[in-house]
Amino acid sequence: MGGLRCFKVVGWALVGLLLASCLVEAMVDPAPTELTPDDGATGCGADPAFGAAEEGGGSCGCGALNREPSGDPNSDDLSAQAESAHDVDKYAAQANGHGESEEQAALLHLSGGVFTMGSDDGFFPDDGEGPARKVQVSPFLIGAHEVSNARFAAFVAATGYRTEAERFGNSFVVEQFISPRISAQISSAVAAAPWWLPVDGADWAHPEGPDTNISGRADHPAVHISWNDANAFCRWSHPRGRLPTEAEWEFAARGGLEHRLFPWGNKMQPKGEFRMNTWQSEMKIPTDANVFKHSFLPIHDGHAYYSAKNTAEDGFQLTAPVDSYKPNKFGLYNTVGNVWEWTNDWHTRVHSPDFVVDPRGPPAGDKKVKKGGSFMCNIFTCYRYRNSARMPLTPDSSAANVGFRCAADVSP
Ligand SMILES: *[C@@H]1O[C@H](CO)[C@@H](O)[C@H](O)[C@H]1NC(C)=O
Repeated sequence: MGGLRCFKVVGWALVGLLLASCLVEAMVDPAPTELTPDDGATGCGADPAFGAAEEGGGSCGCGALNREPSGDPNSDDLSAQAESAHDVDKYAAQANGHGESEEQAALLHLSGGVFTMGSDDGFFPDDGEGPARKVQVSPFLIGAHEVSNARFAAFVAATGYRTEAERFGNSFVVEQFISPRISAQISSAVAAAPWWLPVDGADWAHPEGPDTNISGRADHPAVHISWNDANAFCRWSHPRGRLPTEAEWEFAARGGLEHRLFPWGNKMQPKGEFRMNTWQSEMKIPTDANVFKHSFLPIHDGHAYYSAKNTAEDGFQLTAPVDSYKPNKFGLYNTVGNVWEWTNDWHTRVHSPDFVVDPRGPPAGDKKVKKGGSFMCNIFTCYRYRNSARMPLTPDSSAANVGFRCAADVSP
């Protein structure tokens, strides 16, 4: 396998679902056929923590792109981390929780209640979606929309906040959207998901790399936002602002419908209508009823799938404006598809089947829960644009398909 070398690169250890902590060298002008299925298996199923799940290819496709916080040779990362935690309090105090008006924040008041969280659908046993369990959430506020570039820009202008992607100096971008000039400078890719490349100078204001910008995308979700960045924004933006718990997020996304795959029901496209922003590749693959059991794409096919043009039948190749498509019954937009959304909870795969009031996840952990899938998702590589879908990600990680919405406690 000419050109394939697995080595540990300090700064980009990949520890997510079924990922190897290694990088594939130099995928500049990559020929997808250079990757054999064996390489895919090696790269994708190597994490013993997650077992040799048959869904390996699918899990990998979601691009669990974890940043190794203590390893970037180009950044003074430990102090960056410490400063980040300190800044959150500073910015929140400066704004006194009034960084945005209620109208800008557009928080919906939800009265809470009992609902069925998770599912027993069993698509991805290792994701910890099950068991389906009754939980109760207390009244809370949550954003109708994902936080937009315009709102994030206002936060940065008011506080001088620097995101972790800016501090570390890089973030993950989808290969096909990177300009040839920038591509030529990139020497590493993600073994388990080679359609993702770490790009120097990619951040929220430069989503596809340093030679791109967000003009014309003020109403698109802010991306390349780490959990720490998102938490800082929510603390600043609204009195008692914070990220939603996973239970709050899922309660809000379900919009009062029980046991449904999507916020509107069980059909992905009711009457042929697109209801969310996912990935449609020019590379067509026939589906069959057992797609979840055996036909997740091996890495080389996944690479071909993501290298082929995104035909944007749903209207968008990358992100969509935060008010695209119809809202759910509670008035939330784009909880599924568009961008993954951070929640406040530390990640675990194990949940009590007992009735719980206001579950908050484990008291500590090393990865946070992200929900809802993204514009990168599709049935072949990442069937995660569902209410109960969830994945882990380290709180300092960022990528072109990860954003957030805020929540807040109701007034005391
Ligand atoms: C932003 O990108 C567009 C499209 O590439 C380009 O035409 C424009 O000049 C850029 N704007 C700025 C301020 O760099």
